[in-house]
Amino acid sequence: MLGFLVALQIIGLVVASSSNLSDKCYFDPLPSIPPSTDNRTIPWGEPTIQYANGTTCCSSLDEVRAQLDTIDAQLLQLLSTRASYVREATRFKATSADVNDPSRNQQVIQAAVDAAPSVHLPQIIAQIVYEGIVNSSVLFEECIVSATPIFRSYPFLIV
Ligand SMILES: *[C@@H]1O[C@H](CO)[C@@H](O)[C@H](O)[C@H]1NC(C)=O
Ligand SMILES: *[C@@H]1O[C@H](CO)[C@@H](O)[C@H](O)[C@H]1NC(C)=O
Ligand SMILES: *[C@@H]1O[C@H](CO)[C@@H](O)[C@H](O)[C@H]1NC(C)=O
Ligand SMILES: *[C@@H]1O[C@H](CO)[C@@H](O)[C@H](O)[C@H]1NC(C)=O
Repeated sequence: MLGFLVALQIIGLVVASSSNLSDKCYFDPLPSIPPSTDNRTIPWGEPTIQYANGTTCCSSLDEVRAQLDTIDAQLLQLLSTRASYVREATRFKATSADVNDPSRNQQVIQAAVDAAPSVHLPQIIAQIVYEGIVNSSVLFEECIVSATPIFRSYPFLIV
């Protein structure tokens, strides 16, 4: 009997701590956990999305993916607008060596990582996505600068 109660207590602790463990997935560094070997009956757990009207999502993977597709289209539009400002930034850089500003890059990435918890965004996603945005923006800026030579007059060509 005592052993049974102790066993229940251990199960209870495991359940509580595993639930707390998933909270840690929102923070960097990620907790060090052995990979799951479960083969689960799907869907497992309870829906984790709750709308303001009290309904929950989702009841199928198709429903999840439809939402992701909508969000990805919005991200694409936002990234396009961002890229147009990235291009504009080149106009304020005198040389191609000025394009990459590692301390500014680091500041942008760190600001995203620091702000992530306040919008319930996993910090690992903020970190890697912003690194990708910043790194690819540097490549794009370098291309724009190189592809847009300033007008030069070559007196020797004027006959
Ligand atoms: C997390 O752990 C605390 C005690 O350490 C417990 O009170 C709480 O219910 C747990 N949270 C979840 C979501 O299990
Ligand atoms: C998981 O379980 C399902 C249903 O029993 C089975 O078809 C599938 O092969 C299992 N997958 C693995 C990786 O064991
Ligand atoms: C509740 O809100 C969600 C998200 O806005 C919407 O898709 C769904 O149709 C709404 N359900 C009801 C019953 O109003
Ligand atoms: C971005 O560039 C930095 C510096 O070159 C590099 O350390 C990092 O791995 C890159 N990150 C991504 C996501 O490309």
